[in-house]
Formats: sequence, structure tokens, C-alpha cells
Amino acid sequence: QIHQYQEAYRPQLHFSPGAHWINDPNGMVYIDGSYHLFFQYYPGGTTWGPMHWGHATSKDLVHWKELPIALYPDSLGYIFSGSAVVDSNNTSGFGKDGKYPLVAIFTHHDSKGEKAGTETFQNQSLAYSLDQGQSWTKYAGNPVLKNPGIRDFRDPKVMWYAEQKKWIMTLATKDHITFYSAPDLKNWKKESEFGLTVGAHGGVWECPDLFPLKLNGKTYWVLIVNLNPGGPNGGSATQYFVGHFDGHEFVPVDTRIRWIDYGPDEYAGVTWSNTGSRKLFLGWMSNWNYANEVPTEKWRNAMTIPRELQLRQSDSGILVTSMPAKELYKNAAGMAITLTNVKLNRHLDLSKYTGSLKNQYVLKVNFARIQDCSVHLVSESGDKLTIGFDKAKNRYYIDRTNAGIIDFHKGFAGRFYAPRLTSSKSADLTLVVDKSSIELFADGGLSVMTAIFFPKANLEKLILESQTEVTIQKLQITGLKSIWKN
Ligand code: FRU
Repeated sequence: QIHQYQEAYRPQLHFSPGAHWINDPNGMVYIDGSYHLFFQYYPGGTTWGPMHWGHATSKDLVHWKELPIALYPDSLGYIFSGSAVVDSNNTSGFGKDGKYPLVAIFTHHDSKGEKAGTETFQNQSLAYSLDQGQSWTKYAGNPVLKNPGIRDFRDPKVMWYAEQKKWIMTLATKDHITFYSAPDLKNWKKESEFGLTVGAHGGVWECPDLFPLKLNGKTYWVLIVNLNPGGPNGGSATQYFVGHFDGHEFVPVDTRIRWIDYGPDEYAGVTWSNTGSRKLFLGWMSNWNYANEVPTEKWRNAMTIPRELQLRQSDSGILVTSMPAKELYKNAAGMAITLTNVKLNRHLDLSKYTGSLKNQYVLKVNFARIQDCSVHLVSESGDKLTIGFDKAKNRYYIDRTNAGIIDFHKGFAGRFYAPRLTSSKSADLTLVVDKSSIELFADGGLSVMTAIFFPKANLEKLILESQTEVTIQKLQITGLKSIWKN
């Protein structure tokens, strides 16, 4: 089935469901050449409701095929967020006839229990698939990890810790993380807690992730913790810690607060399992502050562009960088230009270079010396989205105050900031423009910001501005094809 999703605001490069509501990416796992993406889904409407796991797959992280719903709510509750693993040793015993299982570990959210006033309405459960994720069977012994009396007890992210031959579950437990281990995905024992006294605590901790990454041959562990509210620009956002993990405890190398994405619209981001040493991250491209109110009609909300995470030693410690997964460029529409040594003197109109692909392209700009400058995306109706750098404050910003429809939520309009995290004079910016979203990856992915916006008409112009004369060493525009047209 070839979809031709062309409605107003429909992303042309990002995954969004054909219809209805989505939030968090769930159970992301790579198996047999396919990237599976499950997601919090409410098929009964365009606002949050009883949660299911929707399902889509992709061979290239770019083109997505939406499949039938994978998990439906049941007597134990709604199907909240969680993860999926390839149980290649059949530790769970769900395998059959030499086939090993794909196992999903998720939170059962008992809404009736919640209404009745119990504290223990969130518990962890399993489902398995013996046909590469096409069909799922819930485990008869659910739940496998019972709530000890913490209201917020959810979003299990599970990984195989080979050294000790056990599974590690990283679980969000209200205002901290609790680590559990199990040999078989069923019998979980508590290992340790982390985070009561470090990190950002403006809201509830949700959707964590834990994985190793190498820096100059040395292994570090990254702990991702999503937070709602309390993000750097209000509402929901993704913080992380870099540290060490020994199968029992996570110890951070420092306690500074850091964010994977500083923008208002990346949340619940976690990584794919079973991708080897390559770490691929995907977030939900919205914010709980207004996710239920954004002005789309048939469907609501989308995912970010898949991103590759790496570690980088910077002036302020070891940081995680994110850049668009390189597969994005495989979808190039054949429209690409490269300009070198461009003088930017106050105003430069680049509109002619985007050709007919004015709503979906990647713009890359390299400066030898970065100065105050801005990029403007202007729509046919005159709405203007601005992305810029403020040298005096040493920060990037995205301003959607005049970018179109803003009145559905107080606080949607505004200017959002991300600190610059390197003292290098040279800078590189990568901007992924897609109809109703902008993703900024600055300085090799040290400062990242995602924002959605709703222009009243299609995008038409691309304009650069500066206060003083700035030389752009290199500027590239790559037009991208719509993923919905084959
Ligand atoms: C995060 C979250 C999770 C929860 C899910 C419910 O956005 O609140 O903690 O499992 O959404 O849909």
C-alpha cells in the first residue's frame, strides 16, 4: 500500500501515523534487516486515550510501513511505554522449534486501579513474537515485575549485560531510576537506584535508556532520562548522564545537567536495540504542554528524524552528540547545491536554491568564525520561523513567535534557547526542514533543538541574515523526496 499523505502539516520526512494519536516511540529493535518502531497509539481518536502499541517498520530508517496494531489493552490495563529485545539464547523460554523470540517488556497501566486510588497501578509485563514482530502473544504470567508501592513505576528499557549473563532493566520510578536484573526476563531483582540527588527534577522521570558507547577506545555508559515537565525550554525534554555501569550500579562521571535536545519538541527519546555499536535514537516530536492541541486533523504528532549518538570530549566534559542518521540523505531528490566562500552581508536570499522542494530539505552551513546570524523560513502567507545564533550570550535559538498558528496553546509561541557547548571559532549547522518541523544540529550535534510550527501556507523562502559581514565557508542544500511517495 502506497500512502500519499499530503495533508496540511503532514511531515514528508518523518514518521507519522496514517490516522489518530501517537506519543512515545516504543520497543525499537533491529532484526533481520528491519528497524521496528512501536509507539504509544490511540486508535480511537486524535487525543491521548487507552494506550496500544502501534507498529511500523523500515528497511532504511527513512521509509516507514505502518502495520497492524501490535499490542491492545487488556484486563491488566493499557499498554504503556517499554522496549523490545532479541532473546537469541531463548533465556525466556518463549522460543519454539529452534526459533528464538522477540520479547517486548512494557508497563501495564491499570486505569481502573488508578481511579480507585491504589498506588500500585503500574506493573511491568511481557509479550513475545516468534514471527519477527508480526504477531504478539502476551505472557500468561504477567505482570513479571510488581509495583512495590510507587505511583510512577514505568517505561522499562531492557538490555543484555553479556559479562554477567543477565538482563538489565532500567526503570523510571517517579523521581529516580531503579535498575533490576533477571536471567530470564521474568524473575527480576532490584540492583540499585540512581538519581535522587542529581539531575533535573522539575517533573516526573520517564522513559529511560542505558547503553555503552566508546570514546577513544574507552567504554562509557549513557543513561538517558526523559523528564516531564522541567525541560530547559518548558514542558518535556530528554536529559542524560555519562558514567560507568558494572552490572549493578550506575556512577556518573560528573553531575552536570545535560540535554540530548534543548528544543521544545523532542521527548521520550530512546535508542534501538540490537544495532551493535551504532546507537540510533528516535524521539517523539512534541511536548506534553500542547501535544493534545496541535492543529492537525486526521492524525496527531510525529517522530523526530532518527539520529546517531556519539560521545565527544568537550570543554565541559564528555558529551553526547546527535546527528541525523546518514540514511536520511539516501532519499535525496537529486536537487543539491554547494556554495563556497559566500559573503553574508546582512541579507542573502537562498530561495532559488531550494528549487521546488521548499518544504523538505537539509541546509548545512559552515563558518570559519561564527558571528550573530539567522536563518529564516518564510511561508507563502508571510509566516516566519527563525533559527539563529547570539554571540554575546553564546547560544542558539529558534523563534516561532511569528511562524503561523500559535493560539492553540499559551506558551507555544516564543523563542527557545540552546547553549553553545564548544569554544571553537568555527561552527557547523545542519538544519532539517520538513513542512512543519525544524531540527537544528549545531557543532557536530553538541547543541540540538527540535521545534514544530504551523505556517498558514507552504514554505516559500529561505533567507540568511547577519549583523556584520560573515563569510560562510561552505553552504549546502540537499532537497529530499517525500517518504510517502515511492
Ligand atoms: C511519556 C509517557 C510514559 C508513559 C506513556 C503513556 O510520554 O508518559 O511515561 O508510559 O507516556 O502514554
